Amino acid sequence: MLSSTISAAVNGIDANIISVETYISSGLPMFSIVGLPDAAVKESRDRVVAALKNSGFDFPSKKITVNLAPADIKKEGGSFDLPIALGILACCGKINFETLKSFCSAGELSLDGKIRKVKGVLNMALSLKNFKVKNFIVPFLNRREAAAVNELNIYPFKTLAETVNFLNGAAVEPFSSQDVLQNVQDGHLAQEYDFSEIKGQQYAKRAAEVAAAGAHNMIMSGPPGSGKTMIAKRIPGILPPLEYEESIETTKIWSACGRSFAGGLIKERPFRSPHHTVSAAALAGGGSYPKPGEVSLAHNGVLFLDEFAEFRRDALEILRQPLEDKQITVSRAKNSLVFPASFMLVAAMNPCPCGNFGNPLKRCVCSPLQIRKYKNKISGPLLDRIDICLEVPAVKISELTSMQDGESSASIKERVVKARKIQNERFKGLKIFTNAQMQSKDIKKYCIAESKALELLKNAVEKLNFSARSYDKILKVARTIADLAASEIIKSAHIAEAVQYRAFDREIEN
Ligand SMILES: Nc1ncnc2c1ncn2[C@@H]1O[C@H](COP(=O)(O)OP(=O)(O)OP(=O)(O)O)[C@@H](O)[C@H]1O
Ligand SMILES: [Mg+2]
Ligand SMILES: [Zn+2]
Repeated sequence: MLSSTISAAVNGIDANIISVETYISSGLPMFSIVGLPDAAVKESRDRVVAALKNSGFDFPSKKITVNLAPADIKKEGGSFDLPIALGILACCGKINFETLKSFCSAGELSLDGKIRKVKGVLNMALSLKNFKVKNFIVPFLNRREAAAVNELNIYPFKTLAETVNFLNGAAVEPFSSQDVLQNVQDGHLAQEYDFSEIKGQQYAKRAAEVAAAGAHNMIMSGPPGSGKTMIAKRIPGILPPLEYEESIETTKIWSACGRSFAGGLIKERPFRSPHHTVSAAALAGGGSYPKPGEVSLAHNGVLFLDEFAEFRRDALEILRQPLEDKQITVSRAKNSLVFPASFMLVAAMNPCPCGNFGNPLKRCVCSPLQIRKYKNKISGPLLDRIDICLEVPAVKISELTSMQDGESSASIKERVVKARKIQNERFKGLKIFTNAQMQSKDIKKYCIAESKALELLKNAVEKLNFSARSYDKILKVARTIADLAASEIIKSAHIAEAVQYRAFDREIEN
């Protein structure tokens, strides 16, 4: 007796279609699975046997061979339990062969026959889209992410017994994807952090708006309690809503990692804030079956590195590739994978080890050498990829106790969205989307400033001793400020504001 059905194996953030063949012959009772790594085989076998028995089926005491093909594709255990159990049942005449052939399935079985949720169901569904089989049986808890792919018929089940009933003709409507798709744009309505809660700090809030508008990376330096973390957490809430494609991309990464998220698709821009003790591998991604790391989980959102100077040097250096290429290569002995990693970097640090350097209210107890060492922890090449550097002073008590609310995230976001639209128009047909992505030649072409503004920029560069790199960054940021003001040409006021966001260059020179 031979049966065959379809499943899928997640590899990085993509999935491969796997054919599950089951052969039962007379002979000494045994149960072998080929095509899975050793440890996973044993576990899967034990679960399938128990689940079948506890769902009321007899387990055949015959020679059973299951082949997961192709053999050279790496597979992780778990999700093959369900197709293997279904294959065995088909060989025993409990399910129709032909019916089973037209289904893909994935799910881990518990010993009592329940179907547990698995990683990467969205990724599997996306590969199935390009395959001839369009029916996908998924664990009930994965139904929403599977339904995000609307070309498929999704059949979610909670137990093996229910699945078998369905395959034997019980009428079940495919799960509808309507509510999953409709809500893609609604994410930010549920934002729990709002800029209106931040008192004072007009300058820092404005910098965050400019950074969000042009997708510029940003670093804040300031004493403890000045509100740096508060500001960073509110940045995803002023970024433009996720487009459908972006939503799919981000969900693919999260689903492949088995991360939980509400609903079918991730609808809010992710905000990741790994602790400063994070390893380089956890930031970049890795493992023997490479999984995306923090830089990829932050894809299309914000990567917030608090206590920036405390991060391990090797971890920080990992950021250089994704900041440049918007993706990261994770190499392992046998294969190397590329994961998307396009995020807005927001970093925060204290100005010195004690945190009080430059604070008029508290005394700094650090030596000049300590301060220099602390700052030097952040390498030049990394700072070079950060357009906006600002100091966030301690918030004034009078401001903190004021009853007046600040401007809401929703109203800041409106301006950001308008500025992004201008950029989309400007870069139409090019491979870049935002001002932050402009290279030198784009800067020459698109950052046209009035002569008075250029004069001001020249003066600033001479007086403050800025480098050629800083010059380009000031122009890029000024372009964003002009976009926020809906001004075609860059004016003096825009340059003057952009110069303000080079706080670190000035410090280094002094
Ligand atoms: N501008 C502000 N408006 C309202 N509350 C504020 C403001 N700044 C700070 N706070 C209050 O102070 C607390 C600490 O702020 P936050 O954690 O953002 O500081 P921080 O700059 O990140 O400090 P650290 O350097 O210690 O990380 C906040 O939880 C908030 O209650
Ligand atoms: Mg903080
Ligand atoms: Zn100090």
